[in-house]
Amino acid sequence: MQRELQNIVILTGAGVSAESGVATFRGPDGLWEGHRVEDVATPEAFARDPDLVQNFYDERRAKLKTVNPNAAHLALAKLDEQWPSDLLLVTQNVDDLHDRAGSKSLVHMHGELNSAWCLACDGRFPFNGTMASGPTCPQCDTPGQLRPDIVWFGEMPYEMERIELALSQCDLFVSIGTSGAVYPAAGFVQTARHYGAQTLEMNLDPSEGSFHFHESRMGKAGDLVPEWVKEILRDV
Ligand code: APR
Repeated sequence: MQRELQNIVILTGAGVSAESGVATFRGPDGLWEGHRVEDVATPEAFARDPDLVQNFYDERRAKLKTVNPNAAHLALAKLDEQWPSDLLLVTQNVDDLHDRAGSKSLVHMHGELNSAWCLACDGRFPFNGTMASGPTCPQCDTPGQLRPDIVWFGEMPYEMERIELALSQCDLFVSIGTSGAVYPAAGFVQTARHYGAQTLEMNLDPSEGSFHFHESRMGKAGDLVPEWVKEILRDV
């Protein structure tokens, strides 16, 4: 028997921001804005060529000022506001479009473009400038020690305990716009199922773990997500 729908965990990936004009990570050419992910998204890449990595993220950060939340972000924010039980939105995206749409119960598990991490004092703080010029840390005054507060390959995603707890208590797990290529996020569907949740995927094409989901809806997030939100808010 299907249990009553109360707690929801939603995972989003680059596909949810694609219609806002933010490039996905794994384009048809396998490159992220012309770069191999390993060349810009690993601690080794940063140690080898910090200027390349800083310039890359400076460009992505500047681009945020030119894009806006789309219908999918807005629908998820509406759900966050109106859903009567627990809801946690976990995003792999480092853009700020869920925040700007108004989602409050939100975890940026892979960090944020608009956050800086000072390697001198270990402080993290909001940042929307450029790092390539080696700015000074506002907390410890050390110059040239800021790095993007982004979880690179080989680093530990943020707030995993909170996410695992929510997955173990959710009745519905929904995955939107992610290729399912990167763990631990790619394994969330199995964790949620293990604890008895229903699972739904919405993506442009089947993700790598598509067969794990009870239901898959294929199409654009900007169409599918508002329809689904309307559907589940109907009985609230
Ligand atoms: N609507 C829904 N899905 C879409 C849309 C759209 N408009 N456009 C693209 N997609 C789908 C693609 O078909 C693809 O399956 O979104 C998915 C995006 O996959 P990726 O580019 O691999 O992005 P993501 O899954 O978020 O990547 C995970 O990998 O590089 C790391 O840390 C980085 O967070 C990132 C992680």
